[in-house]
This record gives sequence, C-alpha cells and structure tokens, in this order.
Amino acid sequence: MLRKLALALSFATVVTAQQTAPASDPPVEKTKKNIKVLTGLPTSQLIPVMAFMSNSLGVTCAHCHTDKWESDEKQAKDVARTMVLMQRDINERHFGGELAVTCNSCHQGHLEPISIPSLDRAGWNQPPAPPKPDLSKMPAAAELVTKYVKAAGSEKPAAFDATATATRANGRTEPTSGPVTFHVSAEGVKIDTDFSYPPDANRGPNTAFLGPLRINEMYKGMQVTGTERVRGHDTYVVEARATEGRAERLFFDKETGLLVRRYRETPTDYGVVPEAYDFEDYRDVAGMKIPYLITWSRADYKVTHKLEKVAPAM
Ligand code: HEC
Ligand code: HEC
Repeated sequence: MLRKLALALSFATVVTAQQTAPASDPPVEKTKKNIKVLTGLPTSQLIPVMAFMSNSLGVTCAHCHTDKWESDEKQAKDVARTMVLMQRDINERHFGGELAVTCNSCHQGHLEPISIPSLDRAGWNQPPAPPKPDLSKMPAAAELVTKYVKAAGSEKPAAFDATATATRANGRTEPTSGPVTFHVSAEGVKIDTDFSYPPDANRGPNTAFLGPLRINEMYKGMQVTGTERVRGHDTYVVEARATEGRAERLFFDKETGLLVRRYRETPTDYGVVPEAYDFEDYRDVAGMKIPYLITWSRADYKVTHKLEKVAPAM
C-alpha cells in the first residue's frame, strides 16, 4: 500500500521534475563539474540519488568517489554511469518509461547481484504468511494521536532550550561530532550549530523535533495499518501523508503511546530513498516528554543527537 503510494509519488516527480527544473533548482550539469548521464536532474536531487545508489549497492560514497567528487579515478563510477543508462533503457523499452526497475531491483544491497535463487526460497519452502492484522481490533489513528499528544504533554508545548551533541557517521570520515542548540517554541524549532550536517539535509532534525509538537498539522489521511516490533517496543503502525506530500509511517508505543520511530520515503528520478528518525530515552521536562536521543538514519549517514541539558525557555 505504502509502496504503491511512494511509487505513484515518484512517477509524478519524474514527469514534473524533468520537464520543469525550476530556475531555483538548476539541472546538475549547470552546477556540478563532471556530469555525463544525469543531465536534467534538478540539483536538489543529486545527493538523494547518490544516497539511493549507495544504499542499493550496500556501499558508501567512497566506493565510487575519491575526495574530489568530480574525479573519474574510480572505475566503479564509470560502471555506475553505464548502469544508469541501462536502467533507463530497460524502463523506457519495457515499462513505458515508468521507474519499474531501479538499482535496487537487481543489487538488493550487494555489489554483485545474486543471480542464482536460493533453495531456502523454494515455493514449497516458504514460511506461512503472517496473519493479516485485524484492524477492527485496533484503535483508530485519531485515538493514537490523541494518546500521543497527551503522553508527550504537547497539547500546550512549553518553550524550551536544549543543548545536545550531534555525531555523524557516514562510513568515510567518522565519527564527527559537534555541539547543537535547539530553541523550541510554539513557532517552531531554531537550531544553532557549527556542526556540519550532511548537505541538502539540514532541515532533518528540525522537522524531527517539530513532528512530535505539531503532529496534527503535519499529516493528512492517517490510517492504522498494523503492528510492528521496533527496538524492543510493540507499536501500532500509522501510515500518513505529510502535508508536503511524502508518504510516512509513524510507530506509536502500544503502552506509553509515545512515538518510537518516524519513517519516510523521498522520491527521486532514480528511486525512492528511505529514512528513519528514532526517538529514545524520553524524559520529563516542564510537563512534557522529550526524547533525549534522536537518531536520524539515511542511506548516506547516521546522525545521533544526544541531549545534555533541557531547560524551559525564560
Ligand atoms: C555506485 C557509484 C556511486 C556512488 C556509490 C556514489 N556516487 Fe556520486 N556519482 C556517481 C556518478 C556515476 C556520478 C556522475 C554522474 C554523471 O556523470 O552524470 C556521480 C557524481 C557525483 C557528484 C557530482 C560531482 C561533480 O562535480 O561532477 C557528487 C557531488 C556526488 N556524486 C556525490 C556523492 C555522494 C555524496 C555519495 C554518497 C552518498 C555518492 N556520490 C555515491 C556515482 C556514485
Ligand atoms: C538489471 C539489473 C541491474 C540493474 C538495474 C543495475 N545493475 Fe549494477 N550490476 C548488475 C550486474 C549483473 C552487475 C555485475 C556485473 C559483473 O559481474 O560484471 C552489476 C555491477 C555493478 C557495479 C560494479 C560493482 C563493483 O564491484 O563495483 C556497479 C558500480 C553498479 N552495478 C551500479 C549500479 C547502479 C548505480 C545502478 C542503478 C543506477 C545499477 N547498478 C543497476 C545488474 C544491475
């Protein structure tokens, strides 16, 4: 269901992005030094596309790149170019130009796709399908949101300031840490830091903090779709569409009602990039429950935010 939604969204992006790369988002060949096959891709999509490729192959950026991103020194980079052309050709020739086949269709996290099927997966050898969740026995999404807002104390969120240490790991230059200050108020979240977040992504922690505070404004069409175990918590899974259009999944702790994880998918012209925000170590602050550990994971990096001091704003 969600997968279909994500694909539908990505098709929409293919059409609009390639036809109307807006002036504020010029095509990569105008902004980068050595683009031979990704021509026409809006610059804002370059890093998400790179993240998608890395994730599909199970490698870091360093598999194809040296310190100079534009360099063609590594052979894998040129192989990747032929793969981009091949993928495009397959989709145009056989799937009416839809993004049916992606790097991940073949690679599935391996550099060399596995071409021989496994006997473990033979038809007679499949584990029984898990029972379909009985949705009639589960609370409605609105009920879970109400419970969450109450548990988090965010009906009337108090303004607060938090100091934290952010640590980034990307498999290349790690780990890198730096101090971060969050100023949270009814207007939103302001972040002060010299720590360099991954490019294109510095709004991530911002919305991660905002999510809990403004859940009702952030989502449309919330629907409970089942249960799942996340980091040792039994959770209800809610599928939703963020107001900016992206499909998301929210995982609410069955017992405490608090948000354990937020998962979302970003469509690009070459595939859908998954990312997750994990919320842990909730503590009481000024009548609210604040997650003292927020981990943000994407194909190309993982950034943890460890809160040290949280104080109500003066
Ligand atoms: C599987 C190989 C592969 C991986 C992994 C990969 N890239 Fe790339 N990257 C390419 C290719 C191929 C190009 C050139 C595309 C073209 O010619 O149109 C490119 C181009 C770039 C450019 C543009 C450089 C310039 O000025 O021309 C940047 C920046 C970049 N990649 C960043 C990244 C980052 C960041 C990551 C990790 C998240 C990454 N890449 C992972 C293959 C890869
Ligand atoms: C239709 C299946 C298919 C698709 C789609 C596909 N690949 Fe591949 N790829 C392969 C196969 C098969 C090989 C191994 C070729 C060999 O062993 O010589 C390979 C090899 C590679 C390699 C060389 C591995 C190494 O050791 O460095 C890179 C890099 C690569 N693919 C990148 C990509 C990227 C990036 C995409 C998406 C744009 C992609 N591939 C899409 C089938 C595919």
